[in-house]
Amino acid sequence: MENIKAILDKALNTHLLNKGEIITLLKSDDELLFEYADEVRQKFKGNEIHLRGLIEFSNICKCYCKYCGLRCENKEVERYRLTKNEIISLAKNGAELGYKTVVLQSGEDSYYTTDLMVEIIKEIKKFDLAITLSIGERNYEDYKAFKDVGADRYLLRIETTNPALYKEMHPNMSLENRLNCLKNLQKLGYETGSGILVGLPNQSIKSIADDILYFKENNFDMIGTGPFIPHPNTPLARAQAHLDNFKVSLRVMAITRLLLPDINIPATTAMETLNPNGRIIALQSGANVVMPNITSTEYRAKYYIYPNKICLNDSSDKCRNCIEAKIKAIGRNISKTKGFRSDKQL
Ligand code: SAM
Ligand code: SF4
Ligand code: FES
Repeated sequence: MENIKAILDKALNTHLLNKGEIITLLKSDDELLFEYADEVRQKFKGNEIHLRGLIEFSNICKCYCKYCGLRCENKEVERYRLTKNEIISLAKNGAELGYKTVVLQSGEDSYYTTDLMVEIIKEIKKFDLAITLSIGERNYEDYKAFKDVGADRYLLRIETTNPALYKEMHPNMSLENRLNCLKNLQKLGYETGSGILVGLPNQSIKSIADDILYFKENNFDMIGTGPFIPHPNTPLARAQAHLDNFKVSLRVMAITRLLLPDINIPATTAMETLNPNGRIIALQSGANVVMPNITSTEYRAKYYIYPNKICLNDSSDKCRNCIEAKIKAIGRNISKTKGFRSDKQL
């Protein structure tokens, strides 16, 4: 217990930890970690929570990620793709609901060419929204074209930095290319977000500690950590949980807050899937962002990344009101700004 407090005090004062200290925190049940992370969040990000409206615009994907229900080999999922106008109108609706950022997320779907994405981004920028893209790996020129017309942020989780595990989870992909994409995004001036899945088969606590050190070394602007949830129509359908995926995700998130005190950290939807109060617990353990769904209800169930996703039958208005009430109930406010990392918060 003493040891934990000493490690946390060091993190509070220096925002530095070594691998051994991170491993100790990842393995400990001590709730003090969450109190410290909440304190650092309060000091660096204040009371405001940033909402990002999530638009899941295509579930078509050419990749084989073994954990994901959208992987191309899953024939059970009914595929959909939204038109340019549908995407723009969802973004407009998001702006009307008071969102300051929309997140455009999809599988790796080459239907959305560089030119088409550029047109969509340009139109959405007219609503005075910040745009976060989460559309997977593209080349430098594509990322540059999107940035040039106003894309602000990009989310691309590294998923794991362990080379053997990365290879095992991602047939036909390379860790090197993923790392390179993240470097390109940073070079182009995106607010760049990464993160990992927690609880993948054969993922060790040591490798999670390496992932956290990787976040710190690369000074990412956002880090999203999600528990891995086995999907029935994937090769990992029968994966046995070897960690408490919810608890360990929460610890990863809290340690990340201690090491990168001023970044944006979402309370992830997957956390709420595993725990009915998961997002609020996360917001009280270091997180300062929530990404409610603003996709039309008819498509939500088809974006079936993992089972028991929340809000599948809800409307965008309902989600907005629901999250607002939950946030107010814990004495926090919804930000009226776009919520960049560098914004003055306090
Ligand atoms: N295709 C883009 C990509 O991979 O970056 C964006 C969409 S992808 C569905 C978004 C995230 O979903 C991935 O980064 C991954 O971490 C998460 N995900 C996929 N399958 C999951 C599962 N079974 N449990 C929890 N999260 C999962
Ligand atoms: Fe495709 Fe992303 Fe799912 Fe991988 S995680 S299969 S890239 S949607
Ligand atoms: Fe969708 Fe609560 S956030 S119903």
